[in-house]
Amino acid sequence: MIIKPRTRGFICLTSHPEGTAQNIKNQIEYVKSKGKIANGPKKVLVIGASTGFGIASRISAAFGSDAATIGVFFEKPAAEGKPGTAGWYNTAAFEQEAHAAGLYAKSINGDAFSDEIKQQTIDLIKKDLGQVDLVVYSLASPRRTHPKTGVAYASVLKPIGETFTNKTVDFHTGVVSDISINPIENDEDITNTIAVMGGEDWKFWIEDLKAAGVLADGVKTVAYSYIGPKLTFPIYRNGTIGQAKNDLEATVPVLNNLLADINGVSYVSVNKALVTQSSSAIPVVPLYISLLFKVMKQKGIHEGTIEQMQRLFAERLYTNEPILLDAEGRIRVDDLEMREDVQEEVAKLWEQVTTENIEEISDIEGYRNDFFNLFGFNFDAIDYDAETNEVVQVSSIS
Ligand code: NAD
Ligand code: NA
Repeated sequence: MIIKPRTRGFICLTSHPEGTAQNIKNQIEYVKSKGKIANGPKKVLVIGASTGFGIASRISAAFGSDAATIGVFFEKPAAEGKPGTAGWYNTAAFEQEAHAAGLYAKSINGDAFSDEIKQQTIDLIKKDLGQVDLVVYSLASPRRTHPKTGVAYASVLKPIGETFTNKTVDFHTGVVSDISINPIENDEDITNTIAVMGGEDWKFWIEDLKAAGVLADGVKTVAYSYIGPKLTFPIYRNGTIGQAKNDLEATVPVLNNLLADINGVSYVSVNKALVTQSSSAIPVVPLYISLLFKVMKQKGIHEGTIEQMQRLFAERLYTNEPILLDAEGRIRVDDLEMREDVQEEVAKLWEQVTTENIEEISDIEGYRNDFFNLFGFNFDAIDYDAETNEVVQVSSIS
C-alpha cells in the first residue's frame, strides 16, 4: 500500500515501515559512531521498548555494548489494510539489524502492567538469558488495569489548585493561542494518575523478577522522569503527572532496599524534553520544546532521544567513577536543557512568541519534523509515493 501521514490532533494514525526502519538505522549509526561503552550492560530487559526513550535505550545497549535485549511493549502489527504502529515497525527494524549483527533480540507484545506478561518475560529470560543485568523501565501510558484488583485507572494531565492559563501551539498550523486548563476537582485525579504513571508497576516488575531469580548480582534498574522549567510546572511537575513522577522517584529507595542482598541499585534519570508520542499530548509543552530546540541548536548542545540515552549509558550508568547524582539522588541528563543561559533565553522567547513570529523565533519546524519522523515520515531517502509492504512479520516477537 501507499502510506501517507494521517493526523488527528497530536496523533498520527499511520506509520511507514521503511521510514521507521530509516529512523532506527540512523539511531544505530549514531550509537556506533560513539564507540563501545566500556563495561556496559550485557543482558538487558527494556519495558516500554518500542518508541521514544525505550527504543533509544535498547539501541544504546545493543549497539553500544553488544547486549542481548528483550523488549516489552504494546503495539499493533498491520491488519485489515491498516499499517502497523510505529513501535511495531521500529522493533521489526531493530530486531533485523540486531540479528544481522549477531546480537540476541526478542520481544513480547502485550500489557506490561499485567501479571501474565511479567510471567511470560520471566520465562523467556530463564529460557534464553538466565539473568539480566539491566532493567530499563520506560513505560508511558494513559491507562493501567491494576493486576491485583482489576481496577482500571486513567491518568489525567491537570493542574492542582488553580486554573492554569498560558500559551500553547497547534504544531501543525503554528497557531499560538491561550489555553486555560481547569484544575482537578478531587484527589481521585491524583491517585489515578499515580496508579498509572507512578512507581508501583516498576516495583511489581522488580519484585517478580527478583523472586524468580532472574536478576544478576549487581543488577541495575533505571526509570525515566522529567522536571522542566517553571513555566510548565502547573501542568507538569506540580500537576497530576508530577505527583506520579514524585511517586516514581520515591520508589528508588524501596527498590534499593529490595535489591541490596544481590548488590543491585535503582535509579531515576531525569531526561530532556523531547518530541515523543507521549510528550506531544501535553498542552503547552510542545511550544516550550519548539523554543528550547531553537536555543539548544543555536548553542550546539541539542540532543534527541538517542543522544540522550547513549550519554546516559556511557557517561552516567556505566563509568568507572561513582555515578553523578543531584541532591535528590537522581541522574540528570536534562543538565543541558536546564542550564541557566538556556532557560533565560527560552523564557525571553516565551514572552515574545506569537502566531506571526513562531516560524522565525522558534524551531517549530524541527518539532514537526521530529513528530513526523516518529512515524517514519519526512525522511529524504524514502519515496512516499511508492508502494510499500505494510505487512512486516517478525518471528522474534511473541
Ligand atoms: P513513548 O510513548 O514514546 O513510549 C512508551 C512506551 O511504553 C512504548 O514502548 C509503548 O509501547 C509502551 N507501553 C505503553 N503502554 C504499555 C502497556 N500497557 N504495556 C506495554 N507497553 C506499553 O514515551 P516516552 O516519551 O519515551 O516516555 C518514556 C518515559 O520517559 C516516561 O516515563 C516519560 O515520562 C519519560 N520522559 C519523557 C520525556 C519526553 O519529553 N518525552 C522527558 C523525560 C522523561
Ligand atoms: Na519509551
